Amino acid sequence: MSIANVWDEKFQREGYVYGLYPNAFHVSESARLKSNSSILFLGEGEGRNACYFASRGFAATAIDASPVGLQKTNDLASQLNVTVETILQDLMHFEADQQYDALMASFLHLSEPWRTRIFREVINALKPGGFFIAEFFSQNQLQYSSGGPKNSDLLYTVDSLQDIFSISSAKIHLLEEVVACLDEGRGHQGDAALIRMIIEKN
Ligand SMILES: C[S@@+](CC[C@H](N)C(=O)[O-])C[C@H]1O[C@@H](n2cnc3c(N)ncnc32)[C@H](O)[C@@H]1O
Repeated sequence: MSIANVWDEKFQREGYVYGLYPNAFHVSESARLKSNSSILFLGEGEGRNACYFASRGFAATAIDASPVGLQKTNDLASQLNVTVETILQDLMHFEADQQYDALMASFLHLSEPWRTRIFREVINALKPGGFFIAEFFSQNQLQYSSGGPKNSDLLYTVDSLQDIFSISSAKIHLLEEVVACLDEGRGHQGDAALIRMIIEKN
């Protein structure tokens, strides 16, 4: 089954799996961004983050492999009377053909070797001084039942992310593991082992 089919099946159910409200870490870190910044959301699913940031005046673009997820992004954008550009693409083929003020990702479950390739491309897709803001499930999430994959290949460690982003063109502002309580639709509920990351392109 392709990644698009896996996520289409989840998103075909009624309602929004991760709710209608944005990821709290994304919101808390958005103070770093200048008004009207352009933001590319990676693996944005049903669009809760992109629609929220569009409603705050940012130029939001959402990329995802799931046509059903992006249709729900468009539906939510219409309901909120905001504009979100959507790009249907498997990130395995992601190339930085445009640069953004920020890229954001919440719970994008990538395995290697694509993870390293895609995250290096993320840096290329940032304007100088741009930020990559992301929240992932850590490998320690296997001990919790609040959501996320049960396959450790799709979960993250601080060390593996440190290896990927310890390059001259990127400055790591934050890379930490925390346990925090998620309240995001029916998909993410309860205490979770999370990795939070803020990278700035030099
Ligand atoms: C757990 S959901 C998170 C959705 C959204 N970021 C949120 O927090 O509400 C993971 C999303 O990543 C997308 N995704 C996973 N692997 C992908 C890939 N290789 N290319 C594009 N999208 C991908 C899925 O289609 C799905 O929408």
